[in-house]
Amino acid sequence: MCGIIGIVSKKDFTSKFLLERLKRLEYRGYDSYGYYDSRDLKKYVGEIIVAGENKSRIGIAHTRWATHGGVTETNAHPHLSCDKDIVIVHNGILENFKELKEELIRKNHKFVSETDSEVIAHYFEEGLRNKDIKEVITGFLRETKGTFAILVMIKDKEEIYALKRDSPLVLGICKDMNILASDIYAFSDLTNKAVLFDNDEFAIITKDNYKFFNKNGRVIRKPIKKFVWEQEESEKQEYKHYMLKEISEEADVVKRLLFSLDNEQKTGFDKLINLIKESKKIIFASCGTSYHASLLGAYYLHQVGVEAQTLIASEFKHFANIDSDTLVIAISQSGETMDVIDALKYAKENNAKIVSIVNVPFSTIQRMSELSLNILAGQEVCVASTKAFVNQAALLLRVAQEFGFRVNLTNLAEKIKDLLDKKDEIRRLGERIAESRDVYIIGRGLTYPVAREIALKIKEISYIHAEGMMGGELKHGTIALIEEGTPVISLINNNDPDIISNTREVEARGAKVIIITNNKDLEKKKNTIHIRTGNDGKFGILATVAGQLIAYYAADKLGRPVDKPRNLAKCCTVK
Ligand code: F6R
Repeated sequence: MCGIIGIVSKKDFTSKFLLERLKRLEYRGYDSYGYYDSRDLKKYVGEIIVAGENKSRIGIAHTRWATHGGVTETNAHPHLSCDKDIVIVHNGILENFKELKEELIRKNHKFVSETDSEVIAHYFEEGLRNKDIKEVITGFLRETKGTFAILVMIKDKEEIYALKRDSPLVLGICKDMNILASDIYAFSDLTNKAVLFDNDEFAIITKDNYKFFNKNGRVIRKPIKKFVWEQEESEKQEYKHYMLKEISEEADVVKRLLFSLDNEQKTGFDKLINLIKESKKIIFASCGTSYHASLLGAYYLHQVGVEAQTLIASEFKHFANIDSDTLVIAISQSGETMDVIDALKYAKENNAKIVSIVNVPFSTIQRMSELSLNILAGQEVCVASTKAFVNQAALLLRVAQEFGFRVNLTNLAEKIKDLLDKKDEIRRLGERIAESRDVYIIGRGLTYPVAREIALKIKEISYIHAEGMMGGELKHGTIALIEEGTPVISLINNNDPDIISNTREVEARGAKVIIITNNKDLEKKKNTIHIRTGNDGKFGILATVAGQLIAYYAADKLGRPVDKPRNLAKCCTVK
């Protein structure tokens, strides 16, 4: 997964400005980066450093997450043709690049990198010998297999050529400039107007104009979409890390979501309820944190007699029988996770109805769905998803409420605030696990998805091995690993006797137990986070927030780069 940017402007902009835009896409991949403007080609390995006063009116940039070829300056984008007149950046994977490369080598093209993407620069160079640019692009769309969002510049031309298939690409229409980018985050502080590329479309972008074409090269008219985004959310403010800032926003964003489900999103919400009622089978498709939110959602729905299956998107086709009576609900923060997109393609081929619950407006997943609700969590800059989880779960709880789940959601935001006020107490517990090599988190029923999510956060942010599991599974093997001093976080819902007995089992083996509970009798117990709610639905969400804070403080104590954990880019399966 990578991020791309292209700018054509009426006025000069600096390389620093171009890199600032690229930095906003860094969550999409950050092992190396590069840019090309009218003066320079620069490539670097490592994190994007926003600097440079070179002035230009056109430029393209790329942040890379390596797929073909190692992490080197040579493999970083942009890539050049042999005569260095064609410059390209590419996000995606060209499946038939080997055949194309062999053909181009036969025609004497010299390749310098190990990437699939370099083929594009040489392909354009070769094509432009006897064809015009539109013919080259339509030929490219016919001859290539794979996924791509590509930006092409030709030396001394003040135009960018943009092509898309399956990888995200949008055009932001800003005052004095047009910006092409992998998503609207790149320019959401500059404009709220965007034009979205559909598959196999291309566009020619100049400083004050743009023209879209279909795969046959015919001009097409595209609507300008207006999006709403909270601009100030991208600033870190006084917080040490975005993760902490984003957790601190949870009360506000959940309020905003619940209000919108009864107001601006009410029609869509009612439609979703009807679709659930009409469908014979309901299957959630999602990955990572979004999967844990859907697992919690499935639990809520089961409590009120609505049966829903939850599948990890990358395994979707192996475990689901889909037909026209199936409703597939995709849950995705980014709306761009390729495993979810693939699951939806499979669901579509089998005539299922598709609904999505996403955070990023106009994302691919949203556009593949016949109905989509927005969780309105605002931009998540930190790689670890936190406030999006809260809003995904809150939306699903609101759905279950329509089917009879008894819960008062009006004070959920208040309860989150109360819990956040206990930060210092939770910090002490987070720091307690920081010295450990392994942590076990146990839950049952409602708290099983929560245990999985807390484990994911601990692994992702603090790099401590963590296992989130069903308390009932302990005795079937894992208990052997619990010894004197092993940290175990036990999630006790009310006075569930089974999880209480699992907690005793690990205590008996000398485990260092931390309890997260809403059980009043345990309030005074040592190393316990007590959450004031008698309601199961809310406890699931609040216990996760407590776990997010534990993970954060453990990572902070260890000095981990919290906002950017190693070897992982946000939505790492996005192409
Ligand atoms: C974990 C995290 C990932 C994402 C997963 C799915 O903190 O962020 O596990 O939840 O990659 O991404 P989305 O929700 O964008 O589909």
